[in-house]
Amino acid sequence: MKKIIKLFLYTTSAVFFLASLSNSNEISGENLFNRNCAACHKKTAPNLLGTTLDYNVFKSIVLNGRSGTMMGSFKSKFSEHEVKSIYSFLRGK
Ligand code: HEC
Repeated sequence: MKKIIKLFLYTTSAVFFLASLSNSNEISGENLFNRNCAACHKKTAPNLLGTTLDYNVFKSIVLNGRSGTMMGSFKSKFSEHEVKSIYSFLRGK
């Protein structure tokens, strides 16, 4: 009986440990936005909160930038998944 309880405790702590590992790898869209975009987009650049831009347009602007403006390219910095999570945050989803 004791053995079963021990086994149960080991298994649950292993599950919690693995869950905490996978969470720490994920940076939320909100954090990504605050770290990389807010300096401009909460001041001089257009407000993006609640953006109505289509996702593909948004993604293209973020990855390629807009030449001739302060909006630079983030191609080397973000994966598509990260662009998607910033977009979801801005759309409030
Ligand atoms: C150095 C300042 C700066 C930073 C940092 C920056 N942007 Fe921009 N962004 C701008 C400016 C300025 C514009 C307006 C460009 C123009 O005149 O068309 C813009 C435009 C945009 C647009 C188009 C908005 C529209 O409605 O036309 C999107 C989308 C955008 N930025 C997303 C982002 C995201 C997402 C980040 C962070 C990953 C980011 N930007 C970081 C300055 C910045």
